[in-house]
Amino acid sequence: ADDEGRAAFDAIIAADGRIEPRDWMPDDYRKTLIRQVSQHAHSEIIGMQPEANWISRAPSLKRKAILMAKVQDEAGHGLYLYSAAETLGASRDSMVEALIEGKAKYSSIFNYPTKQWADVGAIGWLVDGAAIMNQVPLCRASYAPYGRAMVRVCKEESFHQRQGFEILLSLANGTPAQKAMAQEAVDRFYAPALMMFGPPDDASPNSTQSMEWHIKRFSNDDLRQRFVGMIAEQVKVLGLTLPDPELRFDEDSKKWIHKELDWVEFMDVIKGNGPCNAQRLERRREAHEDGAWVREAAAAYAAKQSKKMQE
Ligand code: ACO
Repeated sequence: ADDEGRAAFDAIIAADGRIEPRDWMPDDYRKTLIRQVSQHAHSEIIGMQPEANWISRAPSLKRKAILMAKVQDEAGHGLYLYSAAETLGASRDSMVEALIEGKAKYSSIFNYPTKQWADVGAIGWLVDGAAIMNQVPLCRASYAPYGRAMVRVCKEESFHQRQGFEILLSLANGTPAQKAMAQEAVDRFYAPALMMFGPPDDASPNSTQSMEWHIKRFSNDDLRQRFVGMIAEQVKVLGLTLPDPELRFDEDSKKWIHKELDWVEFMDVIKGNGPCNAQRLERRREAHEDGAWVREAAAAYAAKQSKKMQE
């Protein structure tokens, strides 16, 4: 049956089709998807923190309402992605436990601090912009529940990116101090945003197999240079600059060339030693503990309902 299953799986992948939860799939395919989808879910959940840091200090009621809605969207993305990972057989408890015990990875970007209001703009424009660049191709991921989740997530992410761009545009057209604040935020988030796409292709152990399985459609470097080309144009509209004097479009390779990124810093952040890793995990643990009564109440209610149904 395994041989038959594998032949059917290979045929679906070769035809660029989709794998559904009940279809046979190789163990490694399941494993790599659980890895990527759970890391993605954790990123959405931890990603709520840097921006939540500014909800109480947003400069107007309107900005506050928008930011709260945005942070709630990220929570929704996380829950949606945990559900997608559950269709592969991962349990929610084991994923949450791995995160709070510091054993699971989540995106490097969320380990950088948000020091001033303009950072919320830079996150929307650069971080959510990079997320969209990475996630639009994932809408065509061969694992159907992941692809379907991405369609919905990308729609919301594009709204997030626009709100970030609009914050920066307002600041860039404001007082000299506001414009300087916007520039400083862009300067600080530029390199970490570029690192979101992962290590360079020759140091990316998972890419080749994930591309063969049509989980990833483009390499890390390929998406990174596309992203940099996009923001190189958008930054002109903002009237700001990117902190990358080496940035240029190379006519021969038809690619954007950017400055060398600090991969030692990247590895450090991934290993848990970034500026905010400890704080992010501590907050997540506290929130998990504070929410214990909600989980208990929901479980008690569910048990009561199912007992009623049996009566
Ligand atoms: N932050 C943290 N870890 C990273 C990052 C990053 N920016 N980039 C790569 N890594 C990790 C990988 O998870 C992998 O670790 P593992 O093998 O222990 O799981 C290792 O570094 C090597 O990288 P790759 O071989 O390139 O890994 P992969 O093929 O999974 O590509 C990528 C990494 C591009 C991030 C991919 O997993 C992906 O597209 N994930 C979905 C998108 C996502 O998670 N976005 C989160 C941020 S966006 C947001 O939440 C708003």
